[in-house]
Amino acid sequence: MKFENINRIGIAGAGTMGSGIALIFARKGFEVQVTDLSISLLEDSRRLVDIFNQTLLNEGLMTKEEEEIVMDNIQYTLDKSAFQDCDLIIEAIVEKMDIKQDFWKEVEEIVKPDAYLATNTSGLSIDGISEKVRDKSRFIGMHFWNPPHIVPLVELIKGDSTSESTVTVLRSLMEDIGKKPVVVQKDVPGFIGNRIQFAAFREALHILQEGVGTPEDIDNAMKYGPGFRYPIMGPLETSDMGGLDTFYYISSYLFKSLSDGKEPTEKLQELMESGKHGVKSKEGFYDYSDGRDEEAIKRRDKMFLKMLKHIHMEDK
Ligand SMILES: NC(=O)c1ccc[n+]([C@@H]2O[C@H](COP(=O)([O-])OP(=O)(O)OC[C@H]3O[C@@H](n4cnc5c(N)ncnc54)[C@H](O)[C@@H]3O)[C@@H](O)[C@H]2O)c1
Repeated sequence: MKFENINRIGIAGAGTMGSGIALIFARKGFEVQVTDLSISLLEDSRRLVDIFNQTLLNEGLMTKEEEEIVMDNIQYTLDKSAFQDCDLIIEAIVEKMDIKQDFWKEVEEIVKPDAYLATNTSGLSIDGISEKVRDKSRFIGMHFWNPPHIVPLVELIKGDSTSESTVTVLRSLMEDIGKKPVVVQKDVPGFIGNRIQFAAFREALHILQEGVGTPEDIDNAMKYGPGFRYPIMGPLETSDMGGLDTFYYISSYLFKSLSDGKEPTEKLQELMESGKHGVKSKEGFYDYSDGRDEEAIKRRDKMFLKMLKHIHMEDK
C-alpha cells in the first residue's frame, strides 16, 4: 500500500502516548479509531486530547477549526474489530512483552492483509514483540517521543523481517504528518535516541558522583553548551564543524576517563530507594515541593512549544 492510500489509523492503548498520537493523525485529517480496556480509560483519553488541544490553541499552534477536526476524527471504541478497515495500526499498550505479543497475535487475525503494523515500544525488541505475527514484513517499531504531539522525532525501527517498502512508506507518512523520522537499521536496545540520551545521563551521574559539579551546574553546562547546539547540529555535524582532527585528539585522551559504568551510580540508587523519584514524588535531584512540581511541568511545556515554533520556522 502506498502512503497516499493510508487514510485510517487504528491506535491501541489510549494512555499518555496513544492519546497524543491520535491527536497528530486526527489533526491531519486521518480517521482514527482508538481502543483501550474500559470506557472510563477512553473518556480519560478524550479529556487528555482536549487538554493538549487547549495548550496548542493558547500558544497559537492550533486553530479552532483544527481543534474541531481533531475531535471529529477520533472514534473511541472497546472493540478491536474497528481495526478491520485500518491501513495502519499503532500499538501503544502497556510495556510488557507477553501482553504485546498476544495483542498482535489477536489483531493480525482482524486486520487487512496489507495493513501496516507498528509498535510504539520504548525499548523492547521489535522481533520479540512480533514473534507471533505471521507476516513480519509489514511489522515495524514506531517510537514516538513523549509528548508525541510536540516532540518532532519518530524512530522507525526495522526488525529482521521488516521490508524496505514498509520502511519507505511509513517514513513518507511520518514526513507527511510533520514528524522528523529516522530509520534505525538494527533492532538494538535504546534504538538511537535513547542510546545517546542515556550515554549523556550516565556521564552526568558520574560527574555528580565524583563531585565535579552540582546538579545545577551539570544541567546548566548541558543546556547552555552542548544542548544549545543540539537542536541545530547533531554530535557528528558538531565534530565536522569543530574539525575531526581536533575531535580525534580530544577523543584519544578523553574517552579513557569517561564513565563506562554498567550499573546506575550510588547517588541514583540512593534517590531511588528513598522514594525520591523526581517531579512525581516532589523530590529528585531538585526539590519540587510547594507547587514547584506544577511550575516545572508548565515551564517545560511552554519552552518546548516555543522551541517547536522555531523548528517550524526553520522548515519554511
Ligand atoms: N510514556 C512515555 O514517555 C513513552 C514514550 C515513548 C514510548 N512509550 C511506550 O508507549 C507505550 C504506552 O505507554 P504509555 O506511557 O502511553 O502508557 P499508559 O499506561 O499511559 O497507557 C497504556 C494504555 O494501554 C492500555 N492497555 C493495556 N493493555 C491493553 C490491551 N491489551 N489492549 C488495549 N489497550 C491496552 C492501558 O489500559 C492504558 O490505558 C508503551 O509501550 C511505552 O513503553 C512511552
